[in-house]
Amino acid sequence: MAEAQQGSGISIRNLYKIFGHNAAAYVDLVKQGMSKAELNQKHGHVLGLKNINIEMPGGGIFVIMGLSGSGKSTLIRHINRLIDPTSGEVIVGGADVVKMNPRELQEFRRHKTAMVFQKFALLPHRNVLENTVYGLEIQGVPRARQVEQAMRWIERVGLKGFEKKYPNQLSGGMQQRVGLARALTNDAPILLMDEAFSALDPLIRMDMQTVLLDLQKEIKKTIVFITHDLDEALRLGDRVAILRDGEVIQQGTAQDIVLQPADGYIANFVKEVNRGRVIKVNAIMQPANGETPLAPIQTSADATLDEAATLLATAGQQQLSIVDQSGAQIGTVDLQRIVSAMVTPAAGEARA
Ligand SMILES: Nc1ncnc2c1ncn2[C@@H]1O[C@H](COP(=O)(O)OP(=O)(O)O)[C@@H](O)[C@H]1O
Ligand SMILES: [Mg+2]
Repeated sequence: MAEAQQGSGISIRNLYKIFGHNAAAYVDLVKQGMSKAELNQKHGHVLGLKNINIEMPGGGIFVIMGLSGSGKSTLIRHINRLIDPTSGEVIVGGADVVKMNPRELQEFRRHKTAMVFQKFALLPHRNVLENTVYGLEIQGVPRARQVEQAMRWIERVGLKGFEKKYPNQLSGGMQQRVGLARALTNDAPILLMDEAFSALDPLIRMDMQTVLLDLQKEIKKTIVFITHDLDEALRLGDRVAILRDGEVIQQGTAQDIVLQPADGYIANFVKEVNRGRVIKVNAIMQPANGETPLAPIQTSADATLDEAATLLATAGQQQLSIVDQSGAQIGTVDLQRIVSAMVTPAAGEARA
């Protein structure tokens, strides 16, 4: 918790959001267990979020995943207080966003956060460069510096040569690259991405995920990424929280969620997931002792099952040694075990 208070970590604590003209009057009923359906039927209020507690460490990608209407946008909009909570705290970089006065809030929004939107939200009468400098223009940064910064990110997202094009001359994928360049040009430590890739075709969407993951190795921002797609969540998220009806029903690493889905609802999603890309070899290895012979093929504990299977198949081997950073063997796994872990296990078979 201390870590999240420094820098650009985000702590959301005991957060409730009820929509309606008399929201505060119903918080206690919700705290005592009134359901979303009951609140709606009896009192005509909508339960947006219920008792959200999330720690997002600075410098990581935190994904919020859930179906339409589960509360994802409501949650992310609390982080820069586009929505006020009915009760609870939103601590960003040590400051409670809920307690900021209007001037502090404006400063915070301009300098600490940048947003990337699902519908790109580019200005149609501005070209790529002029869209990208927009945030710095508002901040009053000198023009030369605006352009220098913008060009750097335009190039970095793969749009060099397109500076003078207008949004309607670009494909959806390219427009979202502009959206990303614009957000990065702001140089805010926190990036808020609400279904930023959801409007893109599947292959373009995968490209954009790769662009984001590559960039993140360099920029190390605190990224809050919203999606309704579990594959996208598991690929991007250092940590993932799953929302349903305004409640977090599970949070953890991608592997935690795939190996130990908290309930049948999540297990049902997880069935469709490409397990080979998510599960790491150390989750299925057999521990080695001093007598276990070292196999000719070795890898680290965080290799995925896909990577491990490829290594073995390429080398024509059956047995893999998992080694630590010093090269000492910590476990072994054979090809058959890898392959059986890639297919969905029967209920109850999940391993930690
Ligand atoms: N301004 C609002 N007034 C009333 N209900 C709202 C409002 N905004 C969102 N909701 C309700 O809150 C719930 C969560 O919505 P939202 O956060 O937009 O979900 P998601 O982004 O996951 O699709 C839904 O039931 C939605 O109808
Ligand atoms: Mg939404």
